[in-house]
Amino acid sequence: MLSKHGVFERNTWLLSIGILIVVAIGGIVEIVPLFYLKSTIEKVEGMRPYSPLELAGRDIYIREGCYVCHSQMIRSLRDEVERYGHYSLAAESMYDHPFQWGSKRTGPDLARVGGKYSNDWHKAHMTNPRSVVPESIMPAYPWLAQRKLDVANIGEKLKTQAAIGVPYSEDMITNAAADIAAQSNPDADGADAVKERYPKAIVANFDGKADEVTELDAMVAYLQVLGTLVDFTKFDAAGPNLR
Ligand code: HEC
Repeated sequence: MLSKHGVFERNTWLLSIGILIVVAIGGIVEIVPLFYLKSTIEKVEGMRPYSPLELAGRDIYIREGCYVCHSQMIRSLRDEVERYGHYSLAAESMYDHPFQWGSKRTGPDLARVGGKYSNDWHKAHMTNPRSVVPESIMPAYPWLAQRKLDVANIGEKLKTQAAIGVPYSEDMITNAAADIAAQSNPDADGADAVKERYPKAIVANFDGKADEVTELDAMVAYLQVLGTLVDFTKFDAAGPNLR
């Protein structure tokens, strides 16, 4: 048996392939169970998929490269928790494909930025960060307020997310475009339906322009929902609190 070892030692390629196989076994044993164990992601009350408007905002967030400067994961370290709030839970990004965790922070973490500022503040900040934070080095994104939100493929977008495990129902997919219109207009008839399908969704005229849905509407709707779905006062009372 040991003499056969010589064959590997004299042949670099064979040895490399051999090493790869042995290491892969170790990897498989460690990684595969994570896909099947229920405890990998502990479910938590309140998490829901993004509403179509929030999802569209999330896609613009990715398109504009906001993740290059902003992370969305609060580590369970004291300085992080004191600055940003409760540390992030795996369940909070279970419907995020791709997740936006990151470790590069030129700007602050955004995992709990929802509700921290008004819609008007976000509008001003996106259009020109210096107008609200004079020392800011964040780039301005003035075109978001000018560009009409492209909703042509929103149903397909939800369907794609459903295909990779996000629980969008048929009802949500068929109403996707209508829900976008309704969430960005508090006077619309569909506002209650949006809130029913997506609990805690904020219905507002985010960009202040009533006549059209812009990319800014979607971006602000997205920023305002971040970190607001799980009620941590309840969570802490019921579960472990590492703080
Ligand atoms: C070049 C790095 C950079 C990029 C890219 C960037 N930001 Fe920022 N962002 C910052 C910095 C620095 C701050 C802190 C100063 C300020 O508030 O403007 C900040 C602050 C923020 C805040 C306020 C956070 C808080 O808790 O006060 C929000 C919201 C935000 N950015 C959203 C975005 C969005 C959305 C995008 C993409 C459209 C984006 N940022 C792109 C650097 C960046």
